[in-house]
Amino acid sequence: TWTMLNIVEEQVEAIREQIGEGRAICALSGGVDSAVAAAIVQRAIGDRLTCVYVDHGMMRLGETEQVRSDFEAVFDTLDVVDAADQFLGALEGVVDPEEKRKVIGREFIRTFEAAEVRVFGDLDSGAQATAYLVQGTLYPDVVESGGGAGTSNIKSHHNVGGLPDDLAFELVEPLRTLFKDEVRLVGEQLGLPSTMVWRQPFPGPGLGIRIIGEVTRERLDILRQADAIAREELTRAGLDRDIWQMPVVLLADVRSVGVQGDGRTYGHPVVIRPVTSEDAMTADWARLPYDVLERISTRITNEVAEVNRVTLDVTSKPPGTIEWE
Ligand code: XMP
Repeated sequence: TWTMLNIVEEQVEAIREQIGEGRAICALSGGVDSAVAAAIVQRAIGDRLTCVYVDHGMMRLGETEQVRSDFEAVFDTLDVVDAADQFLGALEGVVDPEEKRKVIGREFIRTFEAAEVRVFGDLDSGAQATAYLVQGTLYPDVVESGGGAGTSNIKSHHNVGGLPDDLAFELVEPLRTLFKDEVRLVGEQLGLPSTMVWRQPFPGPGLGIRIIGEVTRERLDILRQADAIAREELTRAGLDRDIWQMPVVLLADVRSVGVQGDGRTYGHPVVIRPVTSEDAMTADWARLPYDVLERISTRITNEVAEVNRVTLDVTSKPPGTIEWE
């Protein structure tokens, strides 16, 4: 922890140097990475940091409300933007995973640029030469997006790849050398609430990359319900800290025959993908207790009308990735 405190102090100094008298805007995703990054930057430049949380319409059930109350306690300036129409409009007809990420990454930046103008005035008016954008990019993100020497390009994570060419921001990335467990230590050092520090990872593109096929409001509602049930049962079983994360994936273009009550159903399958991991670079499928799996399956098929089948992903990473897209 002494080293972690050193890292914070070092970063605070570096950020003061980089930003000078300028202002910064931070993209809070709701996760621990961006929260810790923002907390470090707030330490460096105080209220010259504005935090922006974008609800892109692909968050989980109740998540935006939760994030709002958690973050208002920590950050002096928090701007919650409802951009669901914008994102879901831009995603219409988009099926390819990488295309989804590109579209979502592009809309994120647009939203931030608009937020920046709202908060700081028009950048072209010369009020400030550079706009600084804080991101919680971790070392594994850098590696997987091919950002380091001799690395591979597996997925273009939205916070590294897929940025538009006319980007008007300079990036501030205080966590670029850290792994997740180190970020959590830093978060604890900074006194952030444990709900924030121990929150399981959730991808920036949200449920958008857990719907296999086109993203629509209807499909998001279905997935949101199934996901909420699965998470509730995992928490009830006391397994939140044992499981790295547990995506629930909606196979939106697949239907299978089922039977419920007196009737035949023709619904969608969901896939439960619980994994254990140290840093998300590799992962093992989690051996969840059968009774927990049973409760998840029974409740989802009973409570979510459009889902008639629950399946379990027993693939490790590699060869699978944690997310299905
Ligand atoms: P994969 O699916 O590549 O995921 O095994 C590794 C970790 O990264 C998360 N993930 C993302 N996070 N933007 C993010 O911010 C993304 O586009 C993205 N894709 C995957 C995933 O949830 C897991 O924790």
